[in-house]
Amino acid sequence: QGQSLWGGRFSAKPADIMQAINVSIGVDKRLWAQDLAGSRAHCRMLAQQGIIQQADAEAILGGLDVIEGEISGGTFPFRDAYEDIHMNVEARLSELIGEPSGRLHTARSRNDQVATDFRLWVRDACDRTMAQLKDLQRTLLDRAEQHAGDLMPGFTHLQTAQPVTFGHHLMAYVEMFGRDAGRFHDARVRMNENPLGAAALAGSPFPIDRHMTAQALGFDRPMANSLDAVSDRDFALESLAAASIAAGHLSRLAEEIVVWMTPMFGFASLPDDLTTGSSIMPQKRNPDAAELVRAKTGRINGALIALTTVMKGLPLAYSKDMQEDKPPVFEAFDALDLALTAMTAMVAVIRPNTEKMAAAAGAGFSTATDLADWLVRELNLPFRQAHHVTGAAVKRAEVLGLGLGELPLTELQALDGRITEGVYEVLTPEASCASRQSFGGTAPEQVRARIADWRSRL
Ligand code: ARG
Repeated sequence: QGQSLWGGRFSAKPADIMQAINVSIGVDKRLWAQDLAGSRAHCRMLAQQGIIQQADAEAILGGLDVIEGEISGGTFPFRDAYEDIHMNVEARLSELIGEPSGRLHTARSRNDQVATDFRLWVRDACDRTMAQLKDLQRTLLDRAEQHAGDLMPGFTHLQTAQPVTFGHHLMAYVEMFGRDAGRFHDARVRMNENPLGAAALAGSPFPIDRHMTAQALGFDRPMANSLDAVSDRDFALESLAAASIAAGHLSRLAEEIVVWMTPMFGFASLPDDLTTGSSIMPQKRNPDAAELVRAKTGRINGALIALTTVMKGLPLAYSKDMQEDKPPVFEAFDALDLALTAMTAMVAVIRPNTEKMAAAAGAGFSTATDLADWLVRELNLPFRQAHHVTGAAVKRAEVLGLGLGELPLTELQALDGRITEGVYEVLTPEASCASRQSFGGTAPEQVRARIADWRSRL
């Protein structure tokens, strides 16, 4: 067992350590569906081209169906001795149908086989991720619509900056996740070429039809260079890069949820079923799901580094190093899947404390910029001077323990005698938000318009 596929050349079985370091079936069994799809396409092509007999092709296809049944039914014997999914399937095929099984590997190598299987898997993973990103975006849109007019403080440096709406804040993430989906889409377009038929590295002397297998497997075309086809994994790297950027976005939103949920902020809460308690501190309600979304980014970024490092410096064409491509990719997509699902669940039910957010939106002299803008607009002050006057007003309000809007007119007029009652109209957070009508600004009308744009696109 085990060395039978190349036993002709060998007189000894692999050492235990040879098998231990070489075996990958525990990981690459996840490629079984792609492996069967690739073998079916290859088999039909071989028959159509007259490279194998129709009867042999039928026997092979029948055997592959049995194998599919065994794998889905959980009875397939995955054996370490057969190293990887490709040899496990082939060995089982031989047990099931005998001699014709040996004809399936004509004009094929595990090198183009694994490159094909893995591309198919990553392509599916990108499709799944795009669908999940869209789900998350739609969920964010619903919540943004609900809160398009609800105030919250906007921050820079996590210091109160200017009032925004909660809807506007959520819509920022709709944009980010939209670009993330775009990156997966772009990666998918580039990866959708068929390596099958590159064989070991140089192509095949048999009259294979690579366009036929490409079409059967949903690829746009065959890859144009056989060495490239078996030796690059840039499609996986590009997808991991997209995953890493998306995970970064998820971790930022996760971090915000964590911050909003601290009692010191008190901006939002999650229902019991999406939080955890403490085994010792009875008062606790912890945002573990958000924290784990934040943390999954570590694994995903790690996967990108792992695979870029494996690939760097590899000479053409295939090297066994490339077998190490699958664990990071599987781990990254598993983590991203969980993170996206958990984030969508949290966004769907997060309960903003709109009163507390609105109060905070008006605190911290958040409308100071509006005062400066008023001085520019109404008194024609240069902005720098208006900034200075406003700074003095903030200083005075701080001394008196008042908000900017509570500062008596006489106090303001002491800074510039031309200031009138009208100024108070711009000093509320509502007015501040409502005034920001520039495209992409936080005015509720603008936020609703962007929500409508996205709805028509999703
Ligand atoms: N298990 C191998 C991998 O995942 C399959 C390709 C093996 N090719 C070879 N020439 N040894 O990369």
